[in-house]
Amino acid sequence: MENTHNFFIPKTNLIGIGSIKDLTNELLSWKFKKALLVVDKNMLSLGYVEKVQTILKNLFISYDIFDGVLHPNATVTFVENGLSHFTEGIPLLHLDYSLIISIGGGTNHDCAKAIAAVATNGGSIIDYEGYNKVTKPGLPHIAINTTAGSGAEITMFTIITDESRRVKMSIASPNTIPFISVNDPLFMPTMPQEITASSGIDALSHAIEAYCATESSPITDVLALDAIRIVFLYLPRAYENGHDMKAREQMMYANVMAGMAFNNAGLGYVHALAHQLGGFYGQTHGCYNAVLLPHVFNFNSNYLAEERILAIAEAIGISADNKTQAVEQIFAAIKKLATTIGLPEGLAAMGVQIGDLDLLAGNALKDIAGLTNPGKGTLEDVINIYKAAM
Ligand SMILES: [Fe+2]
Repeated sequence: MENTHNFFIPKTNLIGIGSIKDLTNELLSWKFKKALLVVDKNMLSLGYVEKVQTILKNLFISYDIFDGVLHPNATVTFVENGLSHFTEGIPLLHLDYSLIISIGGGTNHDCAKAIAAVATNGGSIIDYEGYNKVTKPGLPHIAINTTAGSGAEITMFTIITDESRRVKMSIASPNTIPFISVNDPLFMPTMPQEITASSGIDALSHAIEAYCATESSPITDVLALDAIRIVFLYLPRAYENGHDMKAREQMMYANVMAGMAFNNAGLGYVHALAHQLGGFYGQTHGCYNAVLLPHVFNFNSNYLAEERILAIAEAIGISADNKTQAVEQIFAAIKKLATTIGLPEGLAAMGVQIGDLDLLAGNALKDIAGLTNPGKGTLEDVINIYKAAM
């Protein structure tokens, strides 16, 4: 009987305080001539882009900057605008960039992953919605992270909003994994408080979903449980004081471990349901996750063994005697953490309308993020999860 657990991550992962300095050595053996930097306008004012520019100049790699990531949900338009830098109006005849570098959070990395994929595979990013549709390797992509964490700098998942359908597309293929990821906490202290909160709870969602996912393995379990432990210990500290470098460093590790876990174990209904809300209403991914996570966990607890629920409780620091007790306390602990770091408590307060739930639930059941959810919900189940989170 086959029971394989192949493990995908970037070829090289630069991790830790000051790790950006190792990028020069990593690039020395490659003959890159020209790079496209994918950033947002805010990133340009923080000084991180300049540090990367200096590295490129020292290596005689020329570059252009695409700063057209305009809000925190990567769209088809952003991707097409980025690709226009390649072609100067003549589609895909001038592949003059040999390297893509994204600097920022998940949105910038997702945008860069999509640009890198279409640059070599052709067509439109819309053609690649689903699993394993990107059949050729994308252009080499270095993802330099400034948040903790979407995990986008490590994973094969690329989330792009198709504005015409108001749907967030999930594109997942090993060919979209960046070839180098950089997680240097020195690039993270300027992260605003609300992004510290929303990206931190995103990392927690990745860890819990990966641990509960049908493709979890002994390797992803270890990563997921430790990420859960770290988030509960250090996210409130990082939120309270962004210059607490111990907390930033620990949250960076939680992001990396949760990213590695979900890249290989898969996700679940938190993400399948949150993607629909993000595509339809446009607010921040992590805020939807914060609200959905306890309710999806409640639903999934019916499909999880007691020992797995108790392991999550232990990682959080909860001592529970049985499954029922543990589920109640985990639910309460997630809600308390989200409240402590100022995240919304319900979907209604975020503008979600009851009348939209049928459509959103139908789309959520088509999202590949839900394929590895431990329980297979009906349309009614998914609508009920949304309603419980209102
Ligand atoms: Fe996420």
